[in-house]
Amino acid sequence: MTESFATPAVMEGHGGYNVRSKVQAAGLCPAVPMLERAAREVALPAGSQPIVIADYGSSQGRNSLVPIGAAIEILRGRIGPVRAISIVHNDRPENDFTALFQTLLSDPNSYLRRDSAAYASAIGRSFYEQILPSESVTLGWSSWAVQWLSKAPGPIPDQVQVAYSKDEATRAAYYRQSAEDWQNFLLARGRELCPGGRLVVLTMALDENRDFGYWPLLKAMYGALIEMVDSGFIREDEFRHMAIPTVGRSRADLLAPFDAEGRFGGLRVEEAEVFIGEDHIWADFEQHRDAGAFGAQWTAFARGSVFPTIAKGLHSGENARTVEFTAEFMDRLEADTAARLAERPERMLIPLGKVLLAKN
Ligand SMILES: C[S@@+](CC[C@H](N)C(=O)[O-])C[C@H]1O[C@@H](n2cnc3c(N)ncnc32)[C@H](O)[C@@H]1O
Repeated sequence: MTESFATPAVMEGHGGYNVRSKVQAAGLCPAVPMLERAAREVALPAGSQPIVIADYGSSQGRNSLVPIGAAIEILRGRIGPVRAISIVHNDRPENDFTALFQTLLSDPNSYLRRDSAAYASAIGRSFYEQILPSESVTLGWSSWAVQWLSKAPGPIPDQVQVAYSKDEATRAAYYRQSAEDWQNFLLARGRELCPGGRLVVLTMALDENRDFGYWPLLKAMYGALIEMVDSGFIREDEFRHMAIPTVGRSRADLLAPFDAEGRFGGLRVEEAEVFIGEDHIWADFEQHRDAGAFGAQWTAFARGSVFPTIAKGLHSGENARTVEFTAEFMDRLEADTAARLAERPERMLIPLGKVLLAKN
């Protein structure tokens, strides 16, 4: 594998992720009661200093509003209306933080519009290292984020998603990176959480058959990319640099760092579950039978979350493509993927993991 290969996570900019992340908004709902439980049980720092909630991998913020708002409401019931709550949203430096701050200011569901003692800020730095002072965070939340690896270990020779690759060496490299990243994420949070603090993580998972899911979508996307190579729209070397560095984790993978008592890095497992998210797009299709809408909606999920990372392949070689070409690439990939999905709508499998951790 080439040393230089790297495709970092990047969501669709200009607020694109916010409008194309309804699958994630629905998928995180079953983890909200876990965060509410955490807010009820978490130890609160003594005195009147602000209580810190950290949101790891916030993207453009819209999907954080429901869980963070729910946590604030429960904390308010415990601390009253005056004590400051500091909400720190975190993402990679390339994130569209402008969209995040605009969402926090203007979205009708923003906690800032409801709570005059809530203060929002952001950190543009990888959550695979410590990014907040030791013992400063009371509640942590992370949804749909830790499946993104810190780096892509290399090209995937026969897919864009490693879960469907048959190349054993590539699979092993990605799963090794995933195990290392999960440990680093936990170690960093273990340092940042206050004693008695709580962390809730929702992430893409593998079901009990180690199935990553989303197969109809990934098959359609890969078919559309091959068609682009065959028609000469993109080059073979560009295609070979297209990979989505995400890895789903089984329940055993999520628990692997923890000892027999469920302890690791100062954290203790309170709950860990892999469940199957509801496919609302399929449920809607069963009502309206509009195959075009089914294809378009599932493709919107891919466009908002993984197309920009796939498009990085266009900028890997010496002949990097223009912004205009990249935009056309995204539009064509969207149109062809949606058309392929519409040909034969199928329910999408959505394995998700949710974990509640407590700092000792
Ligand atoms: C699919 S979005 C999830 C956004 C939101 N939490 C939600 O539930 O919809 C994943 C986010 O995680 C961020 N992310 C991925 N790797 C990261 C890292 N190492 N450090 C911080 N953020 C990261 C991505 O940039 C992206 O904005």
